[in-house]
Amino acid sequence: MFTTDLLRQLDKIAGQYEQKQAALLPVLHAIQEKEGLISPESEQDVSRYLGIPVVHVHEAVSFYHLFHQTKKGKCHFSVCQTTSCALLGGEDIIEHLKTRLGIKSGETTPDGKFSLSVVECLGACELAPMMQYNKEYRGFLNKKKIDELIDKNK
Ligand code: FES
Repeated sequence: MFTTDLLRQLDKIAGQYEQKQAALLPVLHAIQEKEGLISPESEQDVSRYLGIPVVHVHEAVSFYHLFHQTKKGKCHFSVCQTTSCALLGGEDIIEHLKTRLGIKSGETTPDGKFSLSVVECLGACELAPMMQYNKEYRGFLNKKKIDELIDKNK
């Protein structure tokens, strides 16, 4: 069940669209911003709110890597594994992160500080190898840049 505050925010977002259903993605972003994830309960709430089948909501949540079905750590590394990034060292970056953090893709460290996701092309191939670090795009990655980020946030 949405809080009054969140509902007010969602009404404002949905009001910008001719058809309420078209607000699906921005509505999901607003919920995740507030709650840190899109839970199955939120999917149900969104389905009722927008009047669309819950399976459509779930498809959007599971298709876009920007939506999380589990809570992520304070520092979330989403590293691109697609061709341009892979050819320029992305795979090494992913392996380095796995080793440094002791987790696999989709996991969060036990202290809740770091999460790792291996994702498909983020549309910034010119920055390869690159990742999304929380909301920022970080490019031309190397192990030193990764180590600096981890050490700063330990
Ligand atoms: S291949 Fe990595 S951002 Fe496109």
